[in-house]
Order: sequence, then C-alpha cells, then structure tokens
Amino acid sequence: MISTNSSRSCVRRSRRSSEVTQRAGTGPGHGPAPGRATAETDQRHMAAALTLGARGLGRVWPNPAVGCIIVDAQGRVAGRGWTAPGGRPHAEPQALAQAGTAARGGTAYVTLEPCAHTGQTPPCARTLIEAGIARVVTALEDPDPRVAGEGHAMLRAAGVDVVTGVLEDRVRAMQLGFLSRITRGRPMLTLKLATSLDGRIATASGESQWITGPEARRRVHAMRASHDAVMVGAGTARADDPGLTVRGLGISWQPVRVVVSRRLDLPLEGQLARTARDVPVWLCHGPDADRDLIAAWQGLGARLLACPVGPDRQIDPAGLLETLGAAGLTRVFCEGGGALAASLLLADVVDRLAMFGAGVALGAEGWPALGAMGLGALSEAPRLRLSRVEQLGGDVLSLWEKDLRDEV
Ligand SMILES: NC(=O)c1ccc[n+]([C@@H]2O[C@H](COP(=O)([O-])OP(=O)(O)OC[C@H]3O[C@@H](n4cnc5c(N)ncnc54)[C@H](OP(=O)(O)O)[C@@H]3O)[C@@H](O)[C@H]2O)c1
Repeated sequence: MISTNSSRSCVRRSRRSSEVTQRAGTGPGHGPAPGRATAETDQRHMAAALTLGARGLGRVWPNPAVGCIIVDAQGRVAGRGWTAPGGRPHAEPQALAQAGTAARGGTAYVTLEPCAHTGQTPPCARTLIEAGIARVVTALEDPDPRVAGEGHAMLRAAGVDVVTGVLEDRVRAMQLGFLSRITRGRPMLTLKLATSLDGRIATASGESQWITGPEARRRVHAMRASHDAVMVGAGTARADDPGLTVRGLGISWQPVRVVVSRRLDLPLEGQLARTARDVPVWLCHGPDADRDLIAAWQGLGARLLACPVGPDRQIDPAGLLETLGAAGLTRVFCEGGGALAASLLLADVVDRLAMFGAGVALGAEGWPALGAMGLGALSEAPRLRLSRVEQLGGDVLSLWEKDLRDEV
C-alpha cells in the first residue's frame, strides 16, 4: 500500500514538475520565463513571507508567527497570509483563500513547515494539497513534536515538490521565541537597558524618566509591541509605578505585564493594580509570598505564578522563565532594573540585549545599570556579541546577542 502510494506520488511529482517547466519554458534570448522559480525568486518570496510573518510577533503566542505567500504558476503573487492574532487561522489557509483557484499549480512560500496535525482546524499541509499547490518552499522544519517533519512528509507523499532551508538563518532569528519555547521550554529573553554615558540607569534619588530621548522611547514601545510580555523587577515597580503598556503606536493589542517579586511587596494602588483588569498583569512570586497579598492581587485581576527561589533567596531566573514558558509566553522583554538584569545575565538566560545609550552623565552616585554580580574573574563575565548599532535622535542603540548555536 505504502509503495503503491509512493510510486503514484513519484509519477504525480514528475508530471507536475514537467508541467511547471513547460509552462515556464525558456526561449533563446528571453531569459527565465515569469513562472520559473530560481534561487533568487525563492529568496525574494521567502523574504516577503518573513516580513508578513513578523506582523504576528507579540500577538500569536504560544503559536509561531508564520508568513505565507502564494505564487501562481505564472510567477505572480496571488495570496498573502500571516498567523492571525491569538494564533488562528494559520497563515496558509488565509493566503490560499486570497489566491482562490490561482493557487492550483502554484508555489506556497511558508516561513515554517506547514502543520500536519488536526487541531481546531485541518492540517495546513492537507489544505495546501487540496488547493492543488505544486511546490512548497519553507525556511525550516517545525520542531513541535506534533509536526517535526510530518508536514513536509505529508506534502511529499502527495506529490508536492518540497524545498526547505530557504533563508533559514533569518527566519530562525525571527522565530527564536517559538523555537526557544519548544526546544528549551522557556521564552526568548530580550533585556533592555537605558543608560547614561557612565552606565547609570537612574540618579541617586531613583529618577530615571527620561534618560533617553523621544526616538529611543518610541523604539522601546515598538520593541514592547513585538514581545508577548514586558517584565520588570519589583524594585522598578516600587520606584517608578510604571504602566508598562505600549503607547503612541496606535496598535490594538498590549503585551502581558510581568513583575518579579518574591514577597509581593508591591504598591496595591499603583498603575499596575488599577489597570490589571484592562491589560494582563502576571506576578511571579516565591512560594513564601504572603497569602493575603496573593488574594488581594487576585482580587484586582492579576494572575499569580509561583516560581522557585534560588540559593540567594531571590526568584531563580531559569525557573522564572520556565514558568513563563509553561504559561505560553514565547518572547519576553525585560526592562530592568539593575538587580533583576544582573541576575538574568549571571544565569546566562539573556538571549538579546538592547542598550540605549544617552549623552548624559550621572556620576558614580547614580544607580548602576547592573546590580552586583559577584564575579571573581573577567573570564566568568557573561559576554554577548554585537549585532547592530543605530543612532536614534541623540541616543545610540546597540543590539547584542548570545551565541545560540548549541542551544536553540
Ligand atoms: N533606565 C532604565 O532603563 C531603567 C529601567 C528599569 C529600572 N530603572 C531604575 O532602576 C531602579 C530599580 O532597580 P532595582 O535594581 O532596585 O530593582 P529591580 O531590579 O527592578 O528589582 C529588584 C527586586 O526584584 C525582586 N527580585 C525577585 N527575584 C529577583 C532576582 N532573581 N534578582 C533580582 N531581583 C529579584 C526583589 O524584590 P522582592 O523583594 O519584592 O522580591 C528585588 O529587590 C529604579 O530606580 C528604576 O527607576 C531604570
């Protein structure tokens, strides 16, 4: 039975391939015909699918933010789709719906392997087959154990030509949050710090608003919007009474707001408490947090997440992230303060660092960007690799990242 199917697949695959080639054809002096796929067109359409997929970042967790482009047999873009807010519908059925009958004999460019399992909707691999797609180009295999190569296999078994690995590195970087949650059981973590020329994040009195200018602050809001959650330590929640929402971008969604506090000693009448019913507030506390405070915050609408505590009696960074991953988060944006930032760096859980540097000097009595780390030697210091530098108004943004080759 299996061999009958596969030999039928082979016939169908070669017939379809030759159909595409004949349609495409190349005549002397005419160059590649419009419908003919080349490495360059594959990369171009995948880059467009990547851009589409990125629209879902921060709003589709725990699902991946996938983009899909349908190109008809003549090489024209016929449909576009990206994962809808909340994760459904997936990118592929939306792009196919837009393409209609133009999908027949065409190519689907999908940033991630199409799903193979029936959940709330039929598998996307099946939907692509039924739409008559002749070729599927993907960037990477989906490591979700429910897919893990099954989507590609289902397509191939139906005679669809499958090409994978197109723009893999770029798509992997965009999908890091989803990949991290599946393979490491925790979300990707971006740490953001805004510092003075001398590496301070606040004056001696704790004043930190605003060290950087409006362009940098706008970028911070855009970064918040592309993450599932914004996180701060309890010290920042106590000192600044922050709102931690995305403002000034005209968007319709808000990331979850996470505060890390072992004892839950947080202002019960602050901004977070007042707005917990409007925008989610998750409080990550230790097992010894006061029962009355837990009940009070639950009454205000916050979600309480018990996390393990480390030998230093603080919330354990790895346990904190595993708890957030189990709750579904794929991308977390930590905005300090210095004590939490130091603890995260020391635990080696920071994947990306966004350093906003302002041309202001605060002196040694200002708050250092990082709290004590207890390092004995330079060789013990966490080290990140510079990936990009940008000027934002009068400030500098430098982006750093961890080498994740052996991790994700
Ligand atoms: N310029 C900037 O980018 C920026 C950003 C943020 C903050 N700030 C400034 O930084 C100051 C606050 O910084 P901070 O260092 O005092 O506070 P923080 O890092 O925001 O919070 C530290 C507190 O978080 C809780 N915590 C739980 N687990 C922890 C862990 N593993 N490691 C560290 N802390 C943990 C503890 O409070 P519990 O006892 O409640 O558990 C601890 O006292 C404020 O003045 C604020 O304005 C500046």
